[in-house]
Amino acid sequence: MDKNELLSILKDWNEWQVPLSDIGIIRPEYLNRLAGLIEGSNQVITITGPRRAGKSYLMRQMGRKLSDNGLNRENILFVNFEDPRFTVLDAKLLGQIYDVYKGFVSPTSTPYIFLDEVQDVAGWEKWVLTMHELKKARIIVSGSNAHLLSRELGTLLTGRHIDLTVFPLSFAEYLKFNKIETAKPMDIVGQEAEIDGALCRYIESGSFPEVVLSARKTEVLLSYFEDLLTKDLFRRFRVRKAALMKSLIKYYLSNASNLMTFSAAGRALQANPETVEKFCGYFEDVYLFFSLKRFSFKVKEQEKSPRKIYSVDTGLCNSLGFRFSDNIGRLAENIVFLALKRKQIQDPRTELFYWKDVDHREVDFVVKEGLKVSRLIQVCWDMRDEKTKNRELRSLQKAMKELKVKDAVIITDSLESEEDLGGNVVKVVPLWKWLLSGRASS
Ligand SMILES: Nc1ncnc2c1ncn2[C@@H]1O[C@H](COP(=O)(O)OP(=O)(O)O)[C@@H](O)[C@H]1O
Ligand SMILES: [Mg+2]
Repeated sequence: MDKNELLSILKDWNEWQVPLSDIGIIRPEYLNRLAGLIEGSNQVITITGPRRAGKSYLMRQMGRKLSDNGLNRENILFVNFEDPRFTVLDAKLLGQIYDVYKGFVSPTSTPYIFLDEVQDVAGWEKWVLTMHELKKARIIVSGSNAHLLSRELGTLLTGRHIDLTVFPLSFAEYLKFNKIETAKPMDIVGQEAEIDGALCRYIESGSFPEVVLSARKTEVLLSYFEDLLTKDLFRRFRVRKAALMKSLIKYYLSNASNLMTFSAAGRALQANPETVEKFCGYFEDVYLFFSLKRFSFKVKEQEKSPRKIYSVDTGLCNSLGFRFSDNIGRLAENIVFLALKRKQIQDPRTELFYWKDVDHREVDFVVKEGLKVSRLIQVCWDMRDEKTKNRELRSLQKAMKELKVKDAVIITDSLESEEDLGGNVVKVVPLWKWLLSGRASS
């Protein structure tokens, strides 16, 4: 590529001359964690997470933080590989970019290089490894795929990188984006009704930062869906059965929080279960869906079990799947799952399961920490219905006994109380309260 052309692209994304106008709202949890990784290690940092979760914004904010802390702006290089002006994405381009940067900007110390959406650059791992080994730069890369490192070259960076996963907004962040302060317990007092109302909107339109801030939520969500399909799925995995994949996504969005098998999905869509399974692997790679296995002490049984499927965003379920009002309980369960998943990603010793016995009693979430089952979580949206309530309580009691767990919670829409389950007192907590409590968010 022509040097001047390259330079003009780079200038648009960097703050060498003009500061970027929009770096968004700070998400301290991620920014501090990223800053900690940059300071506390000398490894390559890989940032992954769903498309549009806020990875690029986080990188920009990190750049700004570095310069606010006194780093010369010329020592930061930010490259966005989704810029359509880049035609061929390969290691040669990386070399050219670096040369142009060194030549025109002249960094005064080891530069910080941010490579955004790097996964489409063929052979990027080798280039990054060389730069890293020669200590020519601190490198931070990002991508919208759990397997950012390619199968062929990923091992090059084994042991030389640390991951940070960025998720769409937690409920606390959502409130902050909506200017409702909840950092201290005192902030909440007097705002309960407002927070509960916000929860309803959080469930309905989901948690992608841009959607949260936009007045045209459905429109933005639909465009995300198209991008995800074309850029992350069809192109990357060279999908031939595009129509089938699209139907399958809609099918899963409509079935969020339900128990699913590959063969049932295959029957519903007249597709081969193996194809369904393969596609589901892709969906997990791009963080579109997550699946949960049934808890069992036998690993083989766990593997064979039907999966519960959760979506990365309940707004997507609503705009492409089903009617919000008819399914709010399932969406609420999906929200609980996402909160648990966020926590699990930070602590890889944690595992999540659902529980079900031969009598079809079910508990929504089993949290295992290390070798020990530490707690159970039951989402029971409408506890006012006696029959539902009894069923959910009986299931929970049975699971507590079988798994020998005393720590359990029941999450509801608004009810707050305590239930005595065979001598164990179990807390009943409204979802908004649980989401803002330390147990869900930290
Ligand atoms: N911290 C933030 N503050 C305000 N808006 C944000 C923030 N993070 C993301 N956004 C919005 O969401 C959109 C997608 O974020 P982006 O960082 O580009 O996601 P990703 O890089 O993960 O695909 C942005 O264009 C912006 O509108
Ligand atoms: Mg991005």
